[in-house]
Amino acid sequence: MLVLVTKDYDEMSKEAAKRVAAMVRKKPDCVLGLATGSTPIGLYKELVRMHKEEGLDFSKVTTFNLDEYVGLPPEHNQSYHYFMWENFFKHINVDPRNVYIPQGMAENVDEFCEWYENRIKEVGGIDLQILGIGSNGHIAFNEPGSSLGSRTRIKTLKESTRRDNARFFSSIDEVPKYAITMGIGTIMEAQEIILLASGKNKADALKKTVEGPITAMCPASTLQLHRKATIIADKEAASLLDKELIEIPK
Ligand code: GLP
Repeated sequence: MLVLVTKDYDEMSKEAAKRVAAMVRKKPDCVLGLATGSTPIGLYKELVRMHKEEGLDFSKVTTFNLDEYVGLPPEHNQSYHYFMWENFFKHINVDPRNVYIPQGMAENVDEFCEWYENRIKEVGGIDLQILGIGSNGHIAFNEPGSSLGSRTRIKTLKESTRRDNARFFSSIDEVPKYAITMGIGTIMEAQEIILLASGKNKADALKKTVEGPITAMCPASTLQLHRKATIIADKEAASLLDKELIEIPK
């Protein structure tokens, strides 16, 4: 696991964008795994800039999002569908037929989850997966205690996660209680993973991820087992890490 520490959020976003762009240029029909949350917004902004100013071409790219709240329709302004279209997809030339996001309104959730897993396999698997991290160490919506081999399924959100995400809703009561999420096993099958972390409130989770034992109680720690995982963290998120384990991007 490579840990890169950047001076700030902006540099973290640009460093990640460089890597995503390199993948898209090397393999124009690559499959990207995408994340939501406030952390990857800067990455999406930079990719949009690269599309508009440098002609970065997404026309053959396929995308799979990690998760979606159960019960929120795609047009709800806090759904991850809405987030992805507003922050990224509507600004680039991705083919909407190649965009996959879990269906929070699926009638049969189990059937949907199986379909999602199969679809990922049918397109050849995820080449590059982007992740954020929850303050409790969750990745996607795989909360502490999730099975390390888990696949796409419905999960109950922890109170701490609902509290963290309440800032986007008018009150905590409006934050959905369930989500559909790719599993840790699904995520670990990506050829390459980039996890982004920014800010002081991620420092403890990041320390456990990088230096702690591999445990279901910190789902992100599973990345220690991945062949090609890179963590890009800003100084604040990396503030508790052992300095000998990190590198500064050139
Ligand atoms: C949510 C998402 C995660 C994300 C996390 C952190 O729970 N399901 O994918 O990593 O929030 O979000 P933020 O980047 O806003 O801190």
